[in-house]
Amino acid sequence: MAIFSAKQAGQATSLPRHVAVIMDGNGRWATRRGLPRTAGHKAGAETFRTIATYCRDLGLEYLTVYAFSTENWKRPKAEVDAIMSLLDQYLHESIEKMARDRIRLRFLGDTTVLSPKLRQLIAETDEITRHIEGFQANVCLNYGGRDEIVRAARQFARECVAGQRSPDELTEATFPSYLWSAGIPDPELLIRPGGELRISNYLLWQIAYSEIYVTDTLWPDFDAGALDEALAWYQTRDRRFGGLSGKK
Ligand code: FPP
Repeated sequence: MAIFSAKQAGQATSLPRHVAVIMDGNGRWATRRGLPRTAGHKAGAETFRTIATYCRDLGLEYLTVYAFSTENWKRPKAEVDAIMSLLDQYLHESIEKMARDRIRLRFLGDTTVLSPKLRQLIAETDEITRHIEGFQANVCLNYGGRDEIVRAARQFARECVAGQRSPDELTEATFPSYLWSAGIPDPELLIRPGGELRISNYLLWQIAYSEIYVTDTLWPDFDAGALDEALAWYQTRDRRFGGLSGKK
């Protein structure tokens, strides 16, 4: 199925502005090859680089990936350490590349509990890429959808107690400014490689009206062609937002 790029077709609505991805299947990818699970995460980090660059080339504005959830701390320490050191290594290597490739990298989630070294790298990445406009890749790190909503509610409550806000000021339009994703439009398309039919506490507020595409392809095997298929599927969707179809 061919995709219409916004640039080619001159139709701003033909492609999503924002695609979110649950990068699942790294462990299975590695196990099927007789490799340690960490090899799957390493391959998954490479796929992230490839897909981020491809999204930018297609003219998308945002890609948001789930790199580490608030629940992933339950994994064996060796696997958690391996993912953290991969992020460390990845950021080291990619800060300059990202800037050169015109990709702004942002991190969503509570990064305060990460190692000082990783926090320093995150701050540097943010600093070096913050001026880049056009394409932004968001990496969800120590991120949980429920945690994000609770934190937002707590912050708003604090502002009420301090007399800066009144409860009636909280609306569907103002609440998102308290989320990690403040200022980022909701994803129109959520992609889940690896075949699982669940949301896994990901972007719970933001995906209220996202189209959800699940593929059995494992994340390390997810390439430009797989993204083309997901986007072509998205372009066949009739997005009604609770109303009636524009075509009927
Ligand atoms: C889920 O697959 C994947 C993760 C929990 C980790 C994802 C992390 C990376 C790809 C590395 C760093 C990321 C960036 C952006 C540089 P799984 O392990 O649950 O796979 P399985 O379902 O096959 O076991």
